[in-house]
Amino acid sequence: MRKIAHLSDFHFGTHEPAVTADLVKSVLEVKADLVVLSGDFTQRARRWQFQEARKFVEQLPEPKLVIPGNHDMPLFNILARLFWPFSGYNEFIEPLGVAGQSYRDEGMAVIGLNTARRFTGKNGRVSKEQVARVRDFFSDLGESVTRVLVTHHPLGQADNEVFVDLAFGSRLALPEVVNAGVQMLLSGHHHRGASGAIEETEDREQALIVYAGTANSTRTREGDGNTYNLIEVDGRDIKVEVMRWVPGAGFKEARTSQYCYGEDGWELLPART
Ligand SMILES: [Fe+2]
Ligand SMILES: [Fe+2]
Repeated sequence: MRKIAHLSDFHFGTHEPAVTADLVKSVLEVKADLVVLSGDFTQRARRWQFQEARKFVEQLPEPKLVIPGNHDMPLFNILARLFWPFSGYNEFIEPLGVAGQSYRDEGMAVIGLNTARRFTGKNGRVSKEQVARVRDFFSDLGESVTRVLVTHHPLGQADNEVFVDLAFGSRLALPEVVNAGVQMLLSGHHHRGASGAIEETEDREQALIVYAGTANSTRTREGDGNTYNLIEVDGRDIKVEVMRWVPGAGFKEARTSQYCYGEDGWELLPART
């Protein structure tokens, strides 16, 4: 069994220090095999915000897979957005992640793609070149390895969740990455922890779509608070646990969804308590 702690949308600059401290404590306690940080490290890509974000990321256990979000590019400094959109991210955050934004062990293979773009506002994009990279990465893996793709902007709509803005290019990219073997897609940006299967290709291959909430910022969605996902991967069984911050008690298990990959693709199993 492999364990992923999936955290996202920290928005340093609008973060809650008490939640941040509890978040570090919780992630250290759960002893994940991989910590995935899916973007929006800062609120406005300012230097001091990246410095704060870096202090936080440094406290999390290795290995870490990091990708940027749309908030990690300057918004008001047009020149910087145009010519050096990821300079702050590349200086402070990127070196803390695993090389090539990818990770492999005997149970899972995980790759991250940067979907943040200078010219798409808060929305993102996934390119043909990135899809080709995913195809290459998963081309020589055994059947028993669970294949995971990480992006900041969601590439698919979880079938049981309210409508989500997808990255431009997702309509073409999603069936291709599913055909390349991707079984689970992790993303942020939505600021609500949720999961559900998606049916995408003609031969009924499915992928499991998982969104992380905002881990420690004040930019929470009503009713969801600060959350992160604790994901257990065991071959064809996946458990997604949403860990929610409770004042005075830290991050506690709030809801669990368990899936099994069978003949018809991913199936949501009855809640296990
Ligand atoms: Fe965000
Ligand atoms: Fe975002």
